[in-house]
Amino acid sequence: MTKQKLIIDTDPGIDDAMAIHYALAHPALELIGLTTIFGNVFVEQATRNALFLLEQAKRNIPVSQGAPTPLTITPNPPSHFVHGDEGLGDLPAPTPSATPDPRPAHIFLSETIRAHSGEVILVPIGPLTNIAKLLAYDPDITQHVKKLVIMGGAVDAPGNVTPHAEANIWNDPHAADKVFAGDWQIDLIGLDITTDIACTPEDFRALGECAPIIGGFLNRISIFYIKFYHSVIGKELCIMHDPTAIVSITNPECFGYEPIPLEVITQGERIGDTIHSTNRPPVNVAKTADSDAIRKIFLDISAKCDTIMGAQ
Ligand code: BDR
Ligand code: CA
Repeated sequence: MTKQKLIIDTDPGIDDAMAIHYALAHPALELIGLTTIFGNVFVEQATRNALFLLEQAKRNIPVSQGAPTPLTITPNPPSHFVHGDEGLGDLPAPTPSATPDPRPAHIFLSETIRAHSGEVILVPIGPLTNIAKLLAYDPDITQHVKKLVIMGGAVDAPGNVTPHAEANIWNDPHAADKVFAGDWQIDLIGLDITTDIACTPEDFRALGECAPIIGGFLNRISIFYIKFYHSVIGKELCIMHDPTAIVSITNPECFGYEPIPLEVITQGERIGDTIHSTNRPPVNVAKTADSDAIRKIFLDISAKCDTIMGAQ
């Protein structure tokens, strides 16, 4: 069976780390690169964490550093209160020995996607700055990428950083607007579904028992993130935003989509809001999801993360 090639553009980040380890553990996926972006942490921290996560899984996969700031707006501060000062809960800064690819993310993306034309799904799970820069640098890339699966947006749902905006879009609304205007297939996995997809502290404790190294690490970092969600929603739950984007690739049967042209509000009180538009290519917006099946799939696959360590 040919594996689906993926590149994840990421700001790890606790749920990003869960998404990356799920992708590494899944037998139907081949992660061929990570590109990093500011958001949950500063971009240098994101790059360091991405290198660490791959080293933890004993995988030699390139990491390319992306943009440190948004296209136009003044950067928002990193979400340390959600993801921890170093992005991995209360764990100290990791010290990976590998170094990043010398190319900036948008050039790495252009060259890698073109080298596997039509085969790569690009999965941005952070602010969309690198993807907007890719589009500006290489406009024909839309003809070479298989599709984009984006975690972001709140189309017909409330936001999570303001009443209107979801964090990834809010952190670079101009970039997101450019990406939604592009002529490429986009599946959008946003707050319309992800706030209902959750794991419990018991789920992560069990994962830590069956896969003590990587599962144990995911259990450890989930504690900080669950504390944050407890302070916001009053329940001890780990909301699975970023992993859900990867599960949508491995298990499309769990998702229902509506084609909706989108634009992004780039100023004022509603900045970062993803709203219905006209005269733009429709985006496949995920509107329904089998939450419990997605949770189980994530846990079943992640349970293998220690045993497949080092597998290619
Ligand atoms: C998104 O924002 C970040 O905090 C998460 O990693 C996720 O990508 C959810 O709004
Ligand atoms: Ca993220």
